[in-house]
Amino acid sequence: MRSLLLQVALLATWVLADDITVYTDTALAAGWENWSWSSDIDFAATDIFEGSSSISVNSEAWSALSVKLEGTFPNYQGLRFDIAGDNPDLTITIQSSVDGTTSSNILLSAMSTSITPDAFTSLLIDFRNLPGSGAALGNGTWDRITWQAGANGDVYHIDNIVVVESIIIPPLFLSAEPLAANTIAVTTQGDVDFSTFAVSLNGQSVKILNTTTYTPVGTPSKSVTYLTLAKNFVQGSLVIDTGVPNGGNPTFNVTLPAVQFASFVQQVNFPISPLIYGVNFPTSASYIQDLGVTMSRWGGNAVTAYNPTGEFTNAGADWFFENRVADPPSADDWVGWVHGAGSQSLLTIPALDWVSKDATSYSYPVSEYPGQASTDPFLANAGSGRFPNGSAVGPPPDPTTVYTPWNTTMAKAWLNGLANKPTLVAIDNEIEIASSTHQDMHPAAIDYDEELARVLNFSLVAKEVIPGVKVAAPSTCAWWFYWTSEVGYTDNAAHDNMDFLPWFLMKMAAAEKTHGQRILDYLDIHYYYAADTSANDDSAKALRLRMTRSLWDTTYTDESWIGVPPQQNHQWDPTIVSLLPRFRTLIDIYYPGTKLSVSEFSSTADTDITGGLVTVDMLGIFGQQKLDSATYWATPDELGPVGLAYWLYRGFGVHFGANSAQVNLATPNPNTQGVYAATENGKLSVVIVNKNPDTPITFALANMPFGSYFMRHFGGEAGIAKWQTTVTVSSIDYIVVPAYTAVFLKQN
Ligand SMILES: *[C@@H]1O[C@H](CO)[C@@H](O)[C@H](O)[C@H]1NC(C)=O
Ligand SMILES: *[C@@H]1O[C@H](CO)[C@@H](O)[C@H](O)[C@H]1NC(C)=O
Ligand SMILES: *[C@@H]1O[C@H](CO)[C@@H](O)[C@H](O)[C@H]1NC(C)=O
Ligand SMILES: *[C@@H]1O[C@H](CO)[C@@H](O)[C@H](O)[C@H]1NC(C)=O
Ligand SMILES: *[C@@H]1O[C@H](CO)[C@@H](O)[C@H](O)[C@H]1NC(C)=O
Ligand SMILES: *[C@@H]1O[C@H](CO)[C@@H](O)[C@H](O)[C@H]1NC(C)=O
Ligand SMILES: *[C@@H]1O[C@H](CO)[C@@H](O)[C@H](O)[C@H]1NC(C)=O
Repeated sequence: MRSLLLQVALLATWVLADDITVYTDTALAAGWENWSWSSDIDFAATDIFEGSSSISVNSEAWSALSVKLEGTFPNYQGLRFDIAGDNPDLTITIQSSVDGTTSSNILLSAMSTSITPDAFTSLLIDFRNLPGSGAALGNGTWDRITWQAGANGDVYHIDNIVVVESIIIPPLFLSAEPLAANTIAVTTQGDVDFSTFAVSLNGQSVKILNTTTYTPVGTPSKSVTYLTLAKNFVQGSLVIDTGVPNGGNPTFNVTLPAVQFASFVQQVNFPISPLIYGVNFPTSASYIQDLGVTMSRWGGNAVTAYNPTGEFTNAGADWFFENRVADPPSADDWVGWVHGAGSQSLLTIPALDWVSKDATSYSYPVSEYPGQASTDPFLANAGSGRFPNGSAVGPPPDPTTVYTPWNTTMAKAWLNGLANKPTLVAIDNEIEIASSTHQDMHPAAIDYDEELARVLNFSLVAKEVIPGVKVAAPSTCAWWFYWTSEVGYTDNAAHDNMDFLPWFLMKMAAAEKTHGQRILDYLDIHYYYAADTSANDDSAKALRLRMTRSLWDTTYTDESWIGVPPQQNHQWDPTIVSLLPRFRTLIDIYYPGTKLSVSEFSSTADTDITGGLVTVDMLGIFGQQKLDSATYWATPDELGPVGLAYWLYRGFGVHFGANSAQVNLATPNPNTQGVYAATENGKLSVVIVNKNPDTPITFALANMPFGSYFMRHFGGEAGIAKWQTTVTVSSIDYIVVPAYTAVFLKQN
């Protein structure tokens, strides 16, 4: 793969003159103001510099160097700066103080991971192709630039900051990949010339019939050109010669592997639940429409303390147990607009005994609880509620200093008064771990009986005041708590040695008999891989891509602590997660007819291409495994890799078929590929994801009708390039999917 750094370096030499200087030496340039916060900043540092000085910055956690122009820079093309530091953990944003808009987050690590403290590295952000997302900054009343440190603060030097008017991009062929039967998808930058381009297959030159170039929306500085070849691909060696030096590498060589046999059987199908294409807290109506979001969840740790009267909340241990104004403030308005945009809604009802009383109080003032492990960088007196050794400070605070009482009467009044009734309600969020996430208001460990009582009490009022509403519960956080409580195995022992969720299902089945109506409609769980993939190195990437098998594969031994002795539960095959089949079986045993929802799941890499590919695989699996509802945690960036996965299946009104169709694979290889098919009105749709980082996969696709198909794809060697086009399928004998690519095909 060509490195982004090389590209940046090539770009940097081509910046033109009529630019706005932000900083060269000694002080900010005229017209720029210092809007930094919680940072020691020296604008005339001389320990390391270019010219006569640099800016040295020492930011506390989440603090920033931030500069604002008196005026705006609406139509500029980039930001250049030189930086030195020990790979600072910085997030850069371009903002408008005029209307409050902000660019997507630009991670410094998406531009370079080799920044050193002893020499400056020159970087250029192309506003038409923001690092990481590939998104365009777009037009705006931009006037502010912020370099914000992460959780550990940061120390670095920065110099020669310039807003550049115009970037001339050197012409370059970035990637050339075989796609489908006889197309080569070429990603390019700048004004390339295809006249010297030559293709040969197994040593024989192949004629290019047609060259069609597109400039994808959202990644305007890169283009995709489709070359239609006179000959279909076959196994062997494909040499694509650009005919020009092209950054030192004039050829792209691809080994086309042996074909795998697959067949689609449209006649064997079942409905895919329309609610599996959901996200938490979509950002806008256009987001819902662009990505085809079907289910929107109001959830997470902060909604436990949501006070609908004052519109306050408190994220508990996630943010120093501080009250704040809820964002979004009104659940009622939120349900209204998400419905208006075409999505259904899942609204979480708080079900503990307290909700936030105001926008400012907090539970662990350092003045009352000295010696805490950490404090809010923006509010020094607000502590984490923990000692450095991890144990909770004590005694527990009086809840009334921060909270106001909450009970079913109040929940009933709130739900009854909603102008916009949700489709589903969840009874709180992960309350099995409230004694840590909300240790201030509920320090005692929640046991089986308490959790069941809360779910029952709040479900009953929801059912009473919102006719037809469906209830999802108990939104359990993870594998460990599917089977036991915070109290531990004595709690299982006290309940006939039953694991928690099976016991819960059994009790909810009994409750249906008692109350003469179903109280639980969806068993709701959260699912995060138990393995740690945060390293994001090659092996972590491969692991995250393989681990989609934990959702369905009854033979996949989890690559984590799951099932490692001593015994963790009373489940069959305890080392195998097999999440969706397992829960469908438990439901069949303990409470048949209950639907299954996963209201939090994650690719574990929202800004990496592998996160997008994992999400494509997961959405395919959800349909194939009859999941009833799912919402991604947290909100995927619309133009980032995870947003692209939703776009692939659902973007701009073109949807994967409504019924999952049978796929037969002679060589399944689920570690490295996923193949999903659907049918609707007799038309086939197919999604294939190739999880190999550097080798294409090829299929003979029996029963794939010939004719015109709408095709979309993203990924590939040139990063997250994406595009869509119409192709004619006239051969199904050898269909190629490039490395690290997801392809969607839908019969026209
Ligand atoms: C810039 O702002 C930071 C943070 O408020 C402050 O510490 C620093 O002294 C300011 N520098 C100048 C030169 O105004
Ligand atoms: C941005 O502004 C330029 C110049 O005014 C205009 O040509 C362009 O169409 C605008 N782009 C968008 C996306 O509005
Ligand atoms: C080339 O392909 C494009 C896209 O399919 C099509 O619109 C165009 O007519 C083709 N041109 C030729 C000369 O075949
Ligand atoms: C690709 O193959 C051609 C022809 O075999 C060869 O000349 C060239 O060096 C190869 N390029 C790379 C990058 O391997
Ligand atoms: C943790 O530190 C606190 C304060 O120093 C102490 O009181 C407590 O006993 C410690 N807990 C453990 C488990 O070591
Ligand atoms: C909830 O609290 C209110 C106010 O204290 C009280 O009037 C009401 O009876 C309580 N409801 C329940 C179910 O305890
Ligand atoms: C649930 O409601 C019952 C009956 O009103 C009440 O006795 C019980 O305390 C409630 N349980 C919880 C945990 O709120």
